[in-house]
Amino acid sequence: MDRRLLVTGAGGFLGWQLCRQARKKWRVFGIYLRNRPQVSGIVAVKCDLASGRELEALFESIRPQAVVHAAAVSRPASCRRDPDSSFKINVEAAGHLAGLCAAAGVPLVHVSTDLVFEGSKGPYKEDDPPCPLTVYGRQKALAENLVLRQWPRAAVCRLPLLFGWAPGKRANFTMEVIERLAGGRPVPMFVDQYRSPLDTKSAARGLLKFLGAWQGHLHLGGEVRVSRYRMGLMIASLMGCSPDLVNPVRMEDFPGAEKPVFDVSLDSRAAFNAGFRPATLAEGLRETIDATLEAMERTGK
Ligand SMILES: NC(=O)c1ccc[n+]([C@@H]2O[C@H](COP(=O)([O-])OP(=O)(O)OC[C@H]3O[C@@H](n4cnc5c(N)ncnc54)[C@H](OP(=O)(O)O)[C@@H]3O)[C@@H](O)[C@H]2O)c1
Repeated sequence: MDRRLLVTGAGGFLGWQLCRQARKKWRVFGIYLRNRPQVSGIVAVKCDLASGRELEALFESIRPQAVVHAAAVSRPASCRRDPDSSFKINVEAAGHLAGLCAAAGVPLVHVSTDLVFEGSKGPYKEDDPPCPLTVYGRQKALAENLVLRQWPRAAVCRLPLLFGWAPGKRANFTMEVIERLAGGRPVPMFVDQYRSPLDTKSAARGLLKFLGAWQGHLHLGGEVRVSRYRMGLMIASLMGCSPDLVNPVRMEDFPGAEKPVFDVSLDSRAAFNAGFRPATLAEGLRETIDATLEAMERTGK
């Protein structure tokens, strides 16, 4: 197997799944900065993608035949706190990598987000104009434009709220909810934020499916639009917990530094029509619950 695939963000929440799935068909080079990917059968390579020099040397030494770019400063709060350094990876590195892919004629999937939209009229289609409310969303929207300007044949895949299990310290929203409910502790969940959540396994499958097989924007959302509160109720029900542990709250009860995002659900019919078949929300949650509870048993949490 000598088809070389470069996966950036390989030590991250999504990157872990991407590497696990891609290694079946590709020789995977998983790029990381601080967290070495915990996936066997791939080549882990350390590189600071924010350094143009390091990125060029990496590309030159691996000479990938395809690239999935999942690295980012992905926490909105981190982008708000440090917009300059997040800009370097979220925007500049994305554009630079797209330029290298264009010069080599190599397929690229660039991973983007539902948060490029402002949330007043979801579900959003691919051709709805982005209008982000957060620093993170603005950086991701800028990156989309830059990537497609550099490499018009790239696929820019917008993902929704992701959930799933991942090893290490990559705790995420759903794993935290499961851990709290398992301990009999209440969880506050927004009734007024709507997303089209997707499990990371389906997300990785979708990204690899459209690698080299799609040009331009594509929405890879889950099959349903739900509020975070309804998702919390589903998790409680699948775990056999009391629904009373799921507390309905509104975003205005938790004022933040940035405007709240109400409904950034994605209309993913184009991907569904092209054969993308994500797990159902219940299937994805069931698997996440099982994996999270097993990990809690292993670590004695
Ligand atoms: N999680 C979600 O709900 C969600 C939803 C929609 C879209 N997305 C998008 O999906 C992608 C993956 O997100 P995620 O949740 O997997 O995030 P994550 O767990 O934070 O992973 C991001 C990865 O980017 C890497 N990275 C950051 N700066 C870097 C740099 N300068 N050089 C090299 N690598 C660097 C990090 O590497 P190290 O860990 O090694 O430092 C990290 O592994 C991102 O593009 C994000 O915007 C995520």
